Order: sequence, then C-alpha cells, then structure tokens
Amino acid sequence: MIRAAGVHRSFDGVSVLRGVDLAVSAGELVTLSGPSGSGKTALLSLLCGFDSPDSGTVSPGLASWSDCAVLPQSLGLASELTLEENVALPLRLAGRAVDGVSGLLAELGIDGLGARYPGQVSFGQQQRAALARAVVARPAALLADEPTAHLDAASAVAAVGLLRRVADEGAAVLIATHHDAVHAVADRVLELVDGQVQG
Ligand SMILES: Nc1ncnc2c1ncn2[C@@H]1O[C@H](COP(=O)(O)OP(=O)(O)OP(=O)(O)O)[C@@H](O)[C@H]1O
Ligand SMILES: [Mg+2]
Repeated sequence: MIRAAGVHRSFDGVSVLRGVDLAVSAGELVTLSGPSGSGKTALLSLLCGFDSPDSGTVSPGLASWSDCAVLPQSLGLASELTLEENVALPLRLAGRAVDGVSGLLAELGIDGLGARYPGQVSFGQQQRAALARAVVARPAALLADEPTAHLDAASAVAAVGLLRRVADEGAAVLIATHHDAVHAVADRVLELVDGQVQG
C-alpha cells in the first residue's frame, strides 16, 4: 500500500536517500525515526508524489487525497479558508458529502475554532486541523510528518489515538516522528540511517 524500492535521491549533489526500501500494509501503523536532516521529509515527499526519485520506485506516488492523504511538516493549511473549510476540502474536491468534520474537530479539542482562519489560532491548533484534514476522507494511505511536533501531552494522546484508529480501520499509515508516544502505538518502528531504512 505504501512502498519504496531502491529509492535514491540527491539534492545539489548531496546524496540523502541511498537505496531506501520499505513497505507498509493496509491496517499497519509504522513509525520512521532518524536525526534531523536524515531525509524523513524527503522520503515522505517521494512517497506521496510531491517529488520524484532519481532512481527506484515508490507508491502510491501522485494520487487522489482519498488514496493517499498527507499531513506535511509545514502543515499546508489554506490561509484563506477557515479551519472547518480546510478540513472539509478533501471531501468537497472529491464531490463527497461533507460529513464528520465537526466530530473530528471535537475529538482533537478544537471544536470551538472551526470558524477561525489558520492565522487566528495557535500552531498546535493548526496542526490538529491539518490532522483532521488528512483523515477526513478515510484515505487508503496516510503519510504524517511529525504530527505531534507542536502538541501538548493531552493533545498528542488524542492525535495518536486517532492515527491508530485510522490504521485499525484499514489504512496504511506511515509517520515520521521523534516522539515515544507515537512509537508506542506503532506495529513497527523504522529508522533512517545513512540514507537507508533499518528496522
Ligand atoms: N528540495 C530540497 N532541496 C535541497 N535540499 C533538500 C531539499 N529537500 C531536502 N533537502 C536536504 O535533504 C536533507 C534531508 O532533509 P529532510 O527535510 O528530509 O530531513 P528530516 O529528516 O525530515 O529532518 P527534520 O527531522 O529536521 O524534519 C537535508 O540536508 C536537506 O537540506
Ligand atoms: Mg522533516
């Protein structure tokens, strides 16, 4: 469902990914650790088709949000849309009924903030909205880049519980993270070391 085989990627002549192999099955939650600058975000960008490998193959690659949803490290909320509108966007773009938005906002503790714009809420609140947007369309695959980086302990528990449930409901979930609370719910923990995935 999420797969990389023999992936190489260099930036400005510096080889960052040097033969990455990984596979995450449907229903599985896998975490990816590794030092800052080791290439976690670069790898997730390849897996979701934001970038292309120099060699090797990836999937899903460029896909619809329902096939592969992303929670980017930079969040990527549309500043001209409210939090509620941001979360509903994947459903609207897919021509689906807008359903489940308020429940997700409540589960993540931001239900009073749906009418605000990203610039009117904290970074941690923006991160929770970006998580809600990533899961609202029940994607087959989910790539989340440091999804708890800006959250307090209680908010992180809610976020991790939601990510685990998305996997239990059948999605393939890959999470780049430094947080033990996320590794604790993983089926497998991988590490990116010297451009290769170990574990
Ligand atoms: N588009 C790009 N152009 C040039 N260099 C890049 C690009 N993307 C990533 N890099 C470089 O690749 C390396 C890996 O970056 P990446 O963002 O993947 O690290 P990371 O493991 O996600 O780190 P962090 O834990 O800090 O988020 C870094 O040295 C970075 O400067
Ligand atoms: Mg990163």
